[in-house]
Amino acid sequence: MKKVFIVANWKSNKITKEARKWIEDLSNSNFNFMDFKEIIICPSFSLLSSVKLGIQEIIGQKLKIKVGAQDISQFDEGAYTGGVNGRQIKELADYVIVGHSERRNNFGEDGKIVNEKISKALKYNLIPILCVSDMKQIHDSRLVIHNSNFIVAYEPTFAIGTGTPDTPENADKMAKNIKEILGEIPVLYGGSVSKFNIKSFTQMSYIDGALVGRASLDVKEFATIIQNA
Ligand code: PGA
Repeated sequence: MKKVFIVANWKSNKITKEARKWIEDLSNSNFNFMDFKEIIICPSFSLLSSVKLGIQEIIGQKLKIKVGAQDISQFDEGAYTGGVNGRQIKELADYVIVGHSERRNNFGEDGKIVNEKISKALKYNLIPILCVSDMKQIHDSRLVIHNSNFIVAYEPTFAIGTGTPDTPENADKMAKNIKEILGEIPVLYGGSVSKFNIKSFTQMSYIDGALVGRASLDVKEFATIIQNA
C-alpha cells in the first residue's frame, strides 16, 4: 500500500487555546489503525511550539503525526528582523512549506527566493514541501531539489480556497509529469480538498496525498479527510 501524506495548512489562523482544543478533538476521533498515512500539521510560527507539545502530550503514539512550518527565512541566523530561520524551525518541526502561491503572490516571493528557502530548509534537515501551480515552477526549482528529500504539492491557483478543485485526472497527469522530471518523490494535490473529494485524489496512481487548507481548520472535517484518504 502506498504511503499517503495528509498535510494541514492552517495558514494565518488560530491562537494557542484553539490549537490545543483542535489537537484534543483530533485525539478523541476514532481512527482505525492507519500506519500508511502520515499526517503533518503546519500552524503559524507562533503556534509551532504548543502544537508540537500538544501532539506529544495528547496524541502520543495514537497517530503518526508530524509538525511543519509554513515558511522559512531565506537567511541564516543574524540581523534579519522578523525572519524565522531553519535552525530555529528545526527545533520544532520536521517539514516546511515553501513557495506557496499565497507567499509568491502576497509576499512577492519569486523563483530565486523560493530556491534560497529550499536550500536553507535542506541545510537544516527540514523536508521542504514545495508548492507549485505549474510546470514552470518545477523547472525553476529542479536543480535545487535534485537528489534531496522533499515533497511537491501541485496546487493550481484557481483551486485554492475557491471550492472548485482541479479534476483528479488532471491533477494525476500533473503528478505524473512532475515525477517524470524529479523522480520518484511524493507528489500531493492541493486546492479545495474536502472530506467528499479526498479519496478521488488519493486513489489516483501518481498522487501521494493532499495539502488541505480551509478544510483542515475544522477538526471533524479534517479527521474525516484522514479517515477517507
Ligand atoms: P484550500 O487551500 O484547501 O483552502 O483550497 C489549499 C492550500 O492553499 O494549501
